[in-house]
Amino acid sequence: MEILTLGNELLRQKAERIPDIDEDTKKIAEELIETMHKGKGIGLAGPQVGLMKRIFAVHVEKDVPRIFINPSIVETSQELVKYEEGCLSVPGVWAEVSRPKTVQIQAWNEKGRPFTLTAEGILARAILHEYDHLEGMLFLDRLPALKRSKLIAKFEKVKAKHLAG
Ligand code: NI
Repeated sequence: MEILTLGNELLRQKAERIPDIDEDTKKIAEELIETMHKGKGIGLAGPQVGLMKRIFAVHVEKDVPRIFINPSIVETSQELVKYEEGCLSVPGVWAEVSRPKTVQIQAWNEKGRPFTLTAEGILARAILHEYDHLEGMLFLDRLPALKRSKLIAKFEKVKAKHLAG
């Protein structure tokens, strides 16, 4: 799987529900986890690899890799916390983003089993960040406009440098 980066329109589209969790879905889940690990990321969503399906992987430290299929956010805490975020689709850019401290999410795993999870800390943050990808949203969208345009300029610079070798 190849990771799409900022500027690709697919990152801006809403992903579709997966009607059946079958062998293909299992394979997609495995590849998502593999691609996430290869990129040294803690999360990766379908749209980031051009797959417009409601599936994402999250693997934070001291936890196992987790797959979320057709997730719904059940509840988020009123309390917000700021923490530095990055994204495999926006390499070279990090910013402090404000998000709910805890999240309760309902989803299905790659075996087709439904589950509900209450998360906090980095796990909550990664889940909320990845869920945004399913809605065509990037972490940059959660920043004030000025900060956002500065970071986009930074990303373009890093990209140009990278292309120039
Ligand atoms: Ni991301």
